[in-house]
Amino acid sequence: MHIAIIGCGQLARMLALAGIPMGLKFSFIAQAEEDSRCVEGLGSIVRWQPGKSTECLYHELGRPDRITAENEQANTSLLNGLQAYCPIHPNPQAFSICQDRHREKQLLESLDIPCADYIVCQGNDSHLDKLSLSAVAKSCRGGYDGKKQWVLKRRQDVESFMRQANREHYIVEQWVPFDREVSQISVRDINGTIFHYPLTENQHQQGILRQSMAPAIEIPEKIISAAHDYISRILAELDYVGVMAMECFALNDRLLVNELAPRVHNSGHWTQSGSATCQFENHLRAISELPLGSTKSLGITGMVNLIGTEKPPLNALTIESSLHWYDKIVRPGRKLGHINILSEDYHSLLQQMRSLHLGRG
Ligand SMILES: Nc1ncnc2c1ncn2[C@@H]1O[C@H](COP(=O)(O)OP(=O)(O)O)[C@@H](O)[C@H]1O
Ligand SMILES: [Mg+2]
Repeated sequence: MHIAIIGCGQLARMLALAGIPMGLKFSFIAQAEEDSRCVEGLGSIVRWQPGKSTECLYHELGRPDRITAENEQANTSLLNGLQAYCPIHPNPQAFSICQDRHREKQLLESLDIPCADYIVCQGNDSHLDKLSLSAVAKSCRGGYDGKKQWVLKRRQDVESFMRQANREHYIVEQWVPFDREVSQISVRDINGTIFHYPLTENQHQQGILRQSMAPAIEIPEKIISAAHDYISRILAELDYVGVMAMECFALNDRLLVNELAPRVHNSGHWTQSGSATCQFENHLRAISELPLGSTKSLGITGMVNLIGTEKPPLNALTIESSLHWYDKIVRPGRKLGHINILSEDYHSLLQQMRSLHLGRG
C-alpha cells in the first residue's frame, strides 16, 4: 500500500514513521516553496503548483493507493482533482469546511453543538463599534498557533484591529472564561466504527500549545460523554475516515467546541507513548481500510512541545520519557520537537514536565 501525504511537515514525518514498520510506502506533495527537510529520506517528494495537472502529479508520485493531508489548508482544487485517481481520506468536503472558521461554526450549529457566540465581519465593518468585549477576532482562513488573531479587550483594541485587518473575512468570538482547555481525538473507519482516545488537557501560551496531559484528570463524566457525542455526530455527518481532533473549552460541566482539525493533531502526540495504538498509526489504518487499533491508554502521559529549542535536548531524557525531534530549521517560536513522558504517578509526571520547562529557560 502506497500513501501520498499532502504536506511535508512534522505531522507528515510522524505519519510515515508510524507506517513504515507496517510495510506502507510513502510519498509527499510539497508546495513550490515548502521546506521538506522533515520528510527527507522517508519517500519521494514531488513539488506541486497550480497549473501542473493532477494527472501528471499523480503519476510523478508513483500512483499512490490513498491520499491524505497533514494540514487542513490543503488546496481544495488539488484534492478534488486527485480524487479522480484514488480515494482521498478524509474527504475533500471535510477539508473545505475545516479550513474556514465560518463554515466550521455553521456545521456545529447545524448539529446543535455548542460553541462560543460570534459574528462574521470584514475588518472594516462599522458594526464592530457595538461589539461587547472581551472578544477575539480570528481570520476565517489560514490562521494557526494563534496567528491571524486579535484579542479585543478594550475599545482601542477594536480600533487597532479595524486599522490593521484587511478586507478578508473574520469571525469575532466572545471571549470564553474557560476553566480548562481539552481536546478529543477520535478515529473513524470506513464502516463508520469510531474509537475515542481519552480526553486530553491542553495548556496554550500566546495561542501556541505548550503541553498536554492525558487522560485529563478530574473531568466530569458529563464533559467526557459530551465530547464523545459531539465528535461522533461530526464524524458521521461528514462521512469522515481517519483521525479528527476537536479542540474545546470546558466551563464547569459545559463543553464548547473551539475548532476542528481534520487530521492528526499536536494534542494527540502523547499517544505515541501513552496509548496501545498511536494517533498516527490509527489514521493510517483507517485510511488504508484496515481494522482500527485499540485507543486504550497505558498510564498517565504528558507531552511538552519544544518551541524554539536549538538542539535536540538529549540530556533531558529520563527513564520515563522519549524525544521526537523534527529536523526543522530552528526559528524562535517554532515547534521543533516534543517530549512524551509516560508515568504511573501523576506527581512525578508533573515534576518532570515542570523541569523540562525550567531546563529550557
Ligand atoms: N473565544 C476564546 N476565548 C478564550 N480563549 C480563546 C478563544 N479563542 C481562542 N482562544 C485561545 O487561543 C488559542 C488559539 O485559538 P484557536 O482558535 O484554537 O486558533 P489556532 O488555530 O491558532 O489554534 C486557544 O487554544 C485558546 O487558548
Ligand atoms: Mg487551536
